[in-house]
Amino acid sequence: MTLTDPLHYAPKGDKANSAYFNEYRVKIYERRIKSGLADLLGNMCGLVIQVQTGDALAYLKELCIMTPYRYSKSYINNTHKIYCLVNSNTPNTPVFFVLEPLAFDFADQLTYVNKMYVNSQEKPNARYVGEIFSTKDRNETKKILLSHEIRFQDPDSIQNKFYSNKHIEFTQMSNISLNSLGYTDSNIYDFDSLELGEEFHLSPTEKKALEEVDQFTQEHQIKPLLKGVDHTASRVLAGEREDAILEWLCLSNYYFWGAYDVKDLNSSTNASRITHGNDILSPAKVFTANNTPFMVNSFENLPMPTENFVRNYGRRLHHLAIEVMDGEYQKGTKNIDFVLKKLTDDAHIPFLSQIYGECKDEPNLRQVFSKHSAFSILITEYIERCNDFKGFFTKSNVFALTTAAESDEQIKTHHIGQGVVGD
Ligand SMILES: [Fe+2]
Repeated sequence: MTLTDPLHYAPKGDKANSAYFNEYRVKIYERRIKSGLADLLGNMCGLVIQVQTGDALAYLKELCIMTPYRYSKSYINNTHKIYCLVNSNTPNTPVFFVLEPLAFDFADQLTYVNKMYVNSQEKPNARYVGEIFSTKDRNETKKILLSHEIRFQDPDSIQNKFYSNKHIEFTQMSNISLNSLGYTDSNIYDFDSLELGEEFHLSPTEKKALEEVDQFTQEHQIKPLLKGVDHTASRVLAGEREDAILEWLCLSNYYFWGAYDVKDLNSSTNASRITHGNDILSPAKVFTANNTPFMVNSFENLPMPTENFVRNYGRRLHHLAIEVMDGEYQKGTKNIDFVLKKLTDDAHIPFLSQIYGECKDEPNLRQVFSKHSAFSILITEYIERCNDFKGFFTKSNVFALTTAAESDEQIKTHHIGQGVVGD
């Protein structure tokens, strides 16, 4: 395995970064080595999402149809039910925690943030929380990050003890991306050892419902073609792009892989990546931001789908990308085309667009966006890396996918301003 050395790596892409960004990017890499963080941190080993009370089972079914994640165990603490899912196809990849508040009127910081944004108000507790990193020493990691001005959740005052317990500790919600990061030095795959709460079991009816969905995905040959999470993509405001990336570099052992300007959308796509380069084991982190901030964009009249998304939903994760095995299911039919057809025709999953990206003899990406989930508010992207394509985007695909998603993300009410759907 070849490791990328962040200090000697020249970022890819054509999106210009400021001198401030380049100076601190390198300083952060140097500090990670000096402080010991680079040696402590391992792979991204968990993904965390909260859904609305009553939505968990429906969301588990959706994940079962659309991803390789399958329900494993569940626990209950003072405020939440916690469902633990594992990637049934690829071992040693991040686990998935689905948090469901016990009380419909449960409210914490996440709820208050959702209530600020018109398209997030309907499901005020549905939000992607963030990721969990494995570390060799959780206390030492916390000590180092505290000395770098990173703030952690307070175990005494936090309502949902999932965020601060004996085995996993989360940072406070980022002021820039509204993302939180957890760190654990426990074996995340041994759910009982994490002491998440009292174990509870699904009812026979609930279990049967999930088993039926799993069987459906096996019979229709969807499940074996899905590898795991390739990347997660967040959207932030135009002015926060560089700070969001720098904060991510402070909190992880990722390196800034590169940024591409998509001029037709007036936005850029910015990726950070694990140094060993195996994104399935530790998914890439992508930030998308507008080039021109909304308040001056009216001088230019340029497109601003990313800025409008952030203003309609708040800074948050936009999509989770699932990698499809590269290959042809049948002669002339790429695996991603087969998966899309099965999900559309047989599972009745709505998609926003056709598949974009040519997959012939050259390395390339073939991608498609689902409609956003009613439970997680996330789009699921399917991505086939044809002929070992190493990048994250092609400009033509990004343009087509973002444009397709835009109409689904506008505000659905009158008299507010830009982005109103309908008359
Ligand atoms: Fe993506």
